[in-house]
Amino acid sequence: MYNEAAATARKPVTIPALQAMKAHGEKIAMLTCYDASFAAQLEAAGVDVALVGDSLGMVVQGRRSTLPVTLEEIAYHTAAVARGLEATLLIADLPYMSYRDVAHAREAAARLIGQCGAGMLKLEGGGWVCGIIADLVAREAPVCAHLGLTPQAVHRLGGYRVQGREPDAAERLLADARAVQEAGAAMLVLEAVPAPLAARVTATLNIPVIGIGAGAGCDGQVLVLYDMLGITPGKRPKFSRDFLAGAGGVSAALKAYVDAVRGGRFPAAEHQY
Ligand code: KIV
Repeated sequence: MYNEAAATARKPVTIPALQAMKAHGEKIAMLTCYDASFAAQLEAAGVDVALVGDSLGMVVQGRRSTLPVTLEEIAYHTAAVARGLEATLLIADLPYMSYRDVAHAREAAARLIGQCGAGMLKLEGGGWVCGIIADLVAREAPVCAHLGLTPQAVHRLGGYRVQGREPDAAERLLADARAVQEAGAAMLVLEAVPAPLAARVTATLNIPVIGIGAGAGCDGQVLVLYDMLGITPGKRPKFSRDFLAGAGGVSAALKAYVDAVRGGRFPAAEHQY
């Protein structure tokens, strides 16, 4: 018997599927998400990847940084988002200090992948983090790395600033990107780096590179959901766009974002460094 629901169902977005999208030059649309209702909206809009980001500390909890976010809080939101998704790949952020050694990282993976429904974990940094990535990947916990502006390093960086502007910083970032791929990361988020550097990293790596404030040359884009709906208090970051303005509703705004990313119309020149 014809089953309309099954006929219109999306194919699950898997890690090999994202890899194939990079290979075919198809842009990947990713958004942060923190609850089941928005997750269902992302699913309906055809978003490829949902990220339970530790940005929830700022946009949901109203804190000044992501540093106070706990593993328990990420677990709570990941389980909620998982209930709203079907085909969309779900990534959970590892919060500050939750991957300080392999034992803690393994505990976090058991919780977020084993119990809460995440399909991948995201963690910030290169260098020593590569050992953690390799350990998780060897235990079937897929990892997305995060380089450039890494908000958990806000104190060392001296604020939320564009990274990799100087030639030596750009070379270090490229070396870190190679290292996280070598360690086994299946994806890389690049935040707030000059567009030409991000394009160079994207062309160098085999894994999908997802930009936020990193220009149109990446394999895909991610935005903080509340930024792209224009509801985050304060000034919107230069690299974001209010997709709700003029869209007529949340679901139309999400679809407009997916279409703009897939069609290479977002980010535009004014959204990049
Ligand atoms: O926590 C988060 O939302 C993130 C995105 C900005 C990529 O890491």
